[in-house]
Amino acid sequence: MMRFMQWLHRWVSLILIIQVLLWIVSAAAFSLMGHHAMSGHQYMRHVHPEMLSEQAPQWSLDEVRRRFPAADSIVLSNVLGYPQYQVKEGTEWSYVDGHTGAAWQTDAQLAQAVAAASYEGPGVIVDVEAIERSDEVIKWQGPGYRIDFADDLNTRVYVDAASGQVVDHRNTQWVIADWAFKLHFMDYSGERSFNHLLIWSAGLFALWFSLSGLILLVRNVAQGDFNPRRKPTWLEQLQRDEKPIASSCGGGGTCGLCKVTFDNAQQPAPTAAERVMLSEAELASGLRLACQHKVQASDKVELANGDVASHTLNLQRKRDLTPSIAELTFSSSQPLTYRAGQFLQFKIPHENAVLERHYSFATAPTDDGLLTFTVRHMPAPRSGVPAGIGSGFLCRLKAGDQVEAIGPFGDFVLTEAQERQQVFIGGGAGIAPLRALLQAEKQAESPRPCKFFYGARNGSELCYVDEFAADEQVDYVPVLSESVSEDWNGRTGFVHAVAAEWLRSQDLSNLDVYVCGPPAMLKATMDMLAELGVPRNQIKFDDFGI
Ligand SMILES: Cc1cc2nc3c(=O)[nH]c(=O)nc-3n(C[C@H](O)[C@H](O)[C@H](O)COP(=O)(O)OP(=O)(O)OC[C@H]3O[C@@H](n4cnc5c(N)ncnc54)[C@H](O)[C@@H]3O)c2cc1C
Ligand code: FES
Repeated sequence: MMRFMQWLHRWVSLILIIQVLLWIVSAAAFSLMGHHAMSGHQYMRHVHPEMLSEQAPQWSLDEVRRRFPAADSIVLSNVLGYPQYQVKEGTEWSYVDGHTGAAWQTDAQLAQAVAAASYEGPGVIVDVEAIERSDEVIKWQGPGYRIDFADDLNTRVYVDAASGQVVDHRNTQWVIADWAFKLHFMDYSGERSFNHLLIWSAGLFALWFSLSGLILLVRNVAQGDFNPRRKPTWLEQLQRDEKPIASSCGGGGTCGLCKVTFDNAQQPAPTAAERVMLSEAELASGLRLACQHKVQASDKVELANGDVASHTLNLQRKRDLTPSIAELTFSSSQPLTYRAGQFLQFKIPHENAVLERHYSFATAPTDDGLLTFTVRHMPAPRSGVPAGIGSGFLCRLKAGDQVEAIGPFGDFVLTEAQERQQVFIGGGAGIAPLRALLQAEKQAESPRPCKFFYGARNGSELCYVDEFAADEQVDYVPVLSESVSEDWNGRTGFVHAVAAEWLRSQDLSNLDVYVCGPPAMLKATMDMLAELGVPRNQIKFDDFGI
């Protein structure tokens, strides 16, 4: 619940911050432009010609009354001095020629003359267009004319065809002001009203933001987060003691890497984050996330990966597997024992700091002791943003270069349940631990049947295709989600959907599923497995966060 509140609080704050910025920018635009500029009336002539006496209406008021017996009002007006009756019946207006009693007619020539009479700027008319309506004059129904003047403000004058009257003037500054109003009033209908659903929602968002912020603040105070003498979490304590413990979420409870074992008589109650990240069996065995629990004197805590050590890795060879994934093979300064599915924490020198990035072994342990990793070079998502630092650093290494790493970490390892079908679902950089697990299963005394679904956008993103295709023990199902060439006769679509199709025909109580891949794929697969009813303790996943 708190997790959801935190998540929602963060997103609502983002929306509100964006809106506050829009308010500031639009208010600044109002102040800079001034009222006159915003009106669009810079070149509007405000004095209209008087009706000429010889133009007095020949059709009398009595005749108008007889024609419109239900009229609420009758106004004698004029168009360029020519008499016109404006009759209002309820909400309807009728316009009548003051001399003939006929319905008023406005042609392009008259509209042009009316527009010219209402204009006192430096421009000349360059275009006259008959229009049905215009988004620039919201409440006007049309039809009418738009008359464009060639001036510094791109003035256009709208003339109503029914009445021959000027509807309004518009120009470039008015358009800017109109957008500022839309952003400021959050009213994208153009009616400049504060009374609409969007602004009510913004009010509710702000209320939610304040209340949830207050609740989170109270919780943080209660937890002693602002107390300089507060107890550290076990993650902080172990890091202070320079113990080898992995973390890629900074203690947020979302990466699941900081696993420790509590050997207390009474184990701490699992937090919401732990219920998400750890299986029931892990929780029952005393496994917890070090970032979730404050240090207590009575705690007996052990690192989940006790055999962790520092290693200097020496790059032996490097090759590109796909346009974005490189395979790097290192030798280690000292023997390194690991289990397939585990990973090392690499020390990436960057500017004056050392960053930590994690990379999974891409093979099961080998006799020659070489360590192979597959690194996906993270591209910059858009210009102006740097590409991935750690992956960039590793992909730039040359044979003979060295890098420091500690480990191994992780418990994304094969299950020991006998006879169960082993199902691997992955994509992108998730290939590394899945390949290692598949190799380890193959080396087992009595290998279990393996099914491997691997998703990629297109054929060039598939790696180790020949290796998996040639492996008789693995039923390999590559799935392409985007561009598919004509000679592709494999599966297409999303890898989790293809896996789901197959899983529906399986005995779900008799399989183990290993999942690793990009966040969206990982989430879709975990949701799919939950929906199908695959027991949570038969699912293992590794969240790379990329
Ligand atoms: C247990 C585990 C195992 C892993 N195993 C592997 C593996 O085997 N292979 C593998 O390739 N990866 C693996 N990873 C992921 C790896 O650790 C790194 O997270 C990954 O390589 C990205 O790190 P980076 O330093 O290259 O990118 P970062 O520098 O962390 O950047 C990440 C992304 O953010 C973008 N970015 C940077 N700055 C900004 C900004 N200001 N605004 C918006 N975007 C920005 C970057 O361009 C990049 O796309 C694993 C992760 C974990 C947790
Ligand atoms: S540090 Fe990421 S879950 Fe604890």
